[in-house]
Amino acid sequence: MGIWKIRGGNRLYGDTYIQGAKNAVLPILSGTLVSGCVTKLTNVPRLRDVDNTLKILSCLGCQVEWTGHTVTVDSRNAGFAPIPRELMTQMRSSVLFLGAMLARFGRAEVSMPGGCMLGPRPVDLHLKALEDLGAQLELTDETITCYASRLQGERIVFPTPSVGATENAMLAACGAWGVTVIENAAREPEIEDLQTFLNAMGADISGAGTDVVVIRGMRPISYAEHAIVPDRIAAATVLCAAAACGGDVTARALVPEHILPITDALERMGCQVTKGKDSIRLVSDGVLTAPGVIETLPYPGFPTDAQPLLLAACMKASGETTFLETIFSGRLRHTRQLQRLGGNIQVDDHKAVVTGVPRLTGTTVQATDLRGGAALVIAGLMAEGETILVDRDHITRGYERLDACLRALGADVIDTD
Ligand code: UD1
Repeated sequence: MGIWKIRGGNRLYGDTYIQGAKNAVLPILSGTLVSGCVTKLTNVPRLRDVDNTLKILSCLGCQVEWTGHTVTVDSRNAGFAPIPRELMTQMRSSVLFLGAMLARFGRAEVSMPGGCMLGPRPVDLHLKALEDLGAQLELTDETITCYASRLQGERIVFPTPSVGATENAMLAACGAWGVTVIENAAREPEIEDLQTFLNAMGADISGAGTDVVVIRGMRPISYAEHAIVPDRIAAATVLCAAAACGGDVTARALVPEHILPITDALERMGCQVTKGKDSIRLVSDGVLTAPGVIETLPYPGFPTDAQPLLLAACMKASGETTFLETIFSGRLRHTRQLQRLGGNIQVDDHKAVVTGVPRLTGTTVQATDLRGGAALVIAGLMAEGETILVDRDHITRGYERLDACLRALGADVIDTD
């Protein structure tokens, strides 16, 4: 599963360009199926999850081509086929093929999706939304089958905002007759990016980025080109690393408003943050102060995906930081590994209290999920001596060459494969 050797203590200096967003490109790739024509995506990050999604599209009869950071999908000859289990279980976003296949073929068959182990990750809201649009479902322990001879636009009210369920509902509603209104929709920038992409194909969607999304279904569909939105969590990763190590780093090709809660917290910790139109410069002397209470919330609140990153950066910050994880019950698992490096972290259910310590010491740690793994990298960069990070494949699932990016900024991270 791959090992990274990290020697801590280096400050980080220089410019870095932020990759396209994993959590935007995956739903958009499912969306290419809806069109029945050719789509060209740019700023596509080179990730295993993208590769897997392209394999799913190929299984459904699409022609796919991936050169550099550009992907072309020709879905003109696509047809219904069950998606192989080994591809479905690689990632969470595979569940979005339900909505996309229903819109295109009127039927879908998938196995239960995989993804990071963050505690229970039900799909009830996804299924409820598809039922609201008129789909009939058959569930077994392992598979989900949906049929709809005709999807009908409806009012869908989510009891809690869900990124994936909002995206699934948007995809399916593109193939429905009439108007669909999604209430209490998730507001994440990746949902807005999906709307921009689907509209470029000729769909008629408005409201993404607010909690009400309106889809007028059955629009003509045409050739589309779309550039994937920058990855706000990759940006947060680099900035948290620079804050923790000290240095002067400018992250470029990002949207500063997308990571406001993170830059606010880093400023409270004593970092100097300067925002440009599409860049953020962070200067840190590496001596940080605890930012207070951090509560994860749906967008525009503090993102659960950035919680492990900031938590790692707080391990040497003077004072006490309280993290309240309200989105995923299993999302404090990485704290056990961080404690192995000397972090003083008390965990009680969904709350972690981090008390800053003067030093961390390198040791062997294991990545157990994507963002928790990235947190271990940040901690390794802060620690004295060598950290051996096992199972780095969890990290490379969502970051395009994070090790090379950090090396270019002066970090000592070596991929041993
Ligand atoms: C997406 C992101 C993930 C991020 C998360 C929250 C992708 C591929 N993944 O995950 O990186 O951490 O948003 O920002 O984009 N829920 C239900 N029933 C459902 C669906 C969700 O109860 O059917 C609950 C979840 O357990 C969780 C909350 O709703 O407590 C939010 O989850 P959701 O927004 O759906 O996360 P994902 O789309 O899985």
